[in-house]
Amino acid sequence: MKLNRKDILSIEDLTKEEIELVLKTAESFKEVSERDIKKVPTLRGKTIINLFYEPSTRTRTSFEIAAKRMSADAINISASSSSVVKGETLKDTAKNLEAMNPDCIVLRHSFSGAPHILAGLVKCSVINAGDGCHEHPSQALLDMLTVKEKLGRIEGLKIAIIGDILHSRVARSNIYGFTKLGAEVRAAGLPTMMPCRIEQMGCRVFYNMEDAIKDSDVIMMLRIQLERQNAALFPTVREYSKLFGLDSKKLEMAKKDVIILHPGPINRGVEISSDVADGRSSLILDQVTNGVAVRMALFYLLLGREL
Ligand code: CP
Repeated sequence: MKLNRKDILSIEDLTKEEIELVLKTAESFKEVSERDIKKVPTLRGKTIINLFYEPSTRTRTSFEIAAKRMSADAINISASSSSVVKGETLKDTAKNLEAMNPDCIVLRHSFSGAPHILAGLVKCSVINAGDGCHEHPSQALLDMLTVKEKLGRIEGLKIAIIGDILHSRVARSNIYGFTKLGAEVRAAGLPTMMPCRIEQMGCRVFYNMEDAIKDSDVIMMLRIQLERQNAALFPTVREYSKLFGLDSKKLEMAKKDVIILHPGPINRGVEISSDVADGRSSLILDQVTNGVAVRMALFYLLLGREL
């Protein structure tokens, strides 16, 4: 099976069946990363460019590892060390990269919609690795894989997403994804950090963290995205943390077998305490592991030959 599309730009675009296909394919690729020789020849001869205009640890590394484990040639470009600093536009960068005939460009950009623009400019596949406050589709796919792996299903679960929803592309992609797979998604945060009409995305809204987490199966904590805020949205970090930070005291109000997710990077002591981040309910590092399998699946489903 292949995805019958050129690009992966958002979870909003994907059908339930396409999401399920990515998750099933990712499950089958997990064992490659557990082998002694972590490589399959599936994408030999393919060229993948990681073009990152924003900092990244997890996403960039795992796209690169995924490409290499599939035997593709992976090239990494950071805007800060490219001709972008000399004033080259995204369009010119795209046209010049296309002239070298890559098979896929993975783009992270601070501008919402940049991957859509790029996809309209190049013949090769484009994968959105996070665009502004819009979407981070591969993150949501790895989050869904992590929940499905741990709890055996997604349909019928209650997923609480807590924090700076307004600026979070992870929240938007996860609201679309988990809702499409039949979960109830709860978005919780300060009113100043909640997008207008977010209910129209299919989630419930909570302005009190305890109400959101008390019978949830999954709690996903989000970082305050200070780099995207242009106004003071909360009085002090201490007060924010008291209201919407997850510590062991608040965790006592949740179900005993609740699982904790966080896309990273975490700010210890702000949105999550160290004992919770490192505790037995936390699947934060499992998410990172699953990121490689999900990105291998995306490359395979976009670029691989039909078996
Ligand atoms: N989760 C995530 O996107 O992390 P990075 O910014 O480190 O890629």
